[in-house]
Amino acid sequence: MLLLAAFLAADAAGIDDDLPDLNEQIARMTSEVALELQQVCPPASPSDQAAFDRCRHSLFGDSALRRNLAPRLLWGRRNQDAKAALDDTNFTQFAPDVITGLYFPLFMYSGEYSIEYVERERLYLIRLRAGFRNLLPPGQYPYPFWHEEAKWGVYQAANSVLLWVNPKTAKIIIGQFTERGGDDPIVATQSIWPKFDGKWMWMDKEGRIQPRVTLFDGLFRKDNPYLTELDSSYRTLALRMRDAQCDNCHVPNNPMPMRRLLLLHTPAHAAGEIARLLKAVRGDKMPLDDAGNEQPLEPELKRALLESGAAFEQVVEAAKDWEAGHRD
Ligand code: HEC
Repeated sequence: MLLLAAFLAADAAGIDDDLPDLNEQIARMTSEVALELQQVCPPASPSDQAAFDRCRHSLFGDSALRRNLAPRLLWGRRNQDAKAALDDTNFTQFAPDVITGLYFPLFMYSGEYSIEYVERERLYLIRLRAGFRNLLPPGQYPYPFWHEEAKWGVYQAANSVLLWVNPKTAKIIIGQFTERGGDDPIVATQSIWPKFDGKWMWMDKEGRIQPRVTLFDGLFRKDNPYLTELDSSYRTLALRMRDAQCDNCHVPNNPMPMRRLLLLHTPAHAAGEIARLLKAVRGDKMPLDDAGNEQPLEPELKRALLESGAAFEQVVEAAKDWEAGHRD
């Protein structure tokens, strides 16, 4: 393919006059992001740990990709029905830390891209040619994507990553991946079909929590003094969340179907949403009961949940501040 920045779409499509003219800015941003992805996450063997580590460390840091993300993003497979609108498509919500550190780096990028304005969505669509790292150890994925065969199938056959950009802000607001992009994936790989044993997190033989990536392993420096506390404060919060039944709903298999799923089931996912979590609990908005009604917590449990959440939030902030002061 190689359709470099075909920028006719904007005029032809007749965007509202009241939109600021950000076309050029979006074109520039796209070429910068595509080039960066190709430089830090180039085609490699789908099992290459070092290539993956370089990619996620770079994207999680001060990357062009990160600078161009909205404060909260949606992520998911492209709808099987190609005509379906984004509004009718299921997504998971992610903070920039989570999507730059745990999701985008699972793909490799050739640098080839195209841009078009999609009138129906009133958004720009960037297509990046890509391939997926399907042969990393299980703890390198944010959770076992293979809990659902169809989802894992699309991940490991993916040939494109799609970025949707708001024309008014020039920020990326949605990321998708698809195996129906029209090209071969940039790296040929063997499909594998691991078995899901029902656990989103588990202990490895060394007694370490897995998946490691959700403990910021490889994202925060190894000498970050807050790593142990991050682990222990998350464990306390996780117990309180279990008492409060948050994990009846906020888990990857989305048992109480949310069209915009929010995940809280790992340290990284909870860290990305901790401010919202505290606000929702403080305001008695969460948890819900099975019928979807607000179900206030016992005062003692509410206090314990808020306390453990605030403690976790503090450690997350301290760990991030420390990283900011120790960039290499
Ligand atoms: C029975 C299912 C269920 C349970 C249990 C549950 N949630 Fe939710 N949660 C939802 C649904 C559905 C939404 C999205 C719709 C909404 O905002 O009402 C949501 C939304 C949220 C949001 C986003 C609110 C926002 O700002 O938009 C947060 C944060 C949250 N839940 C945290 C929690 C926490 C913390 C717990 C445990 C104390 C919990 N939830 C328990 C179903 C649940």
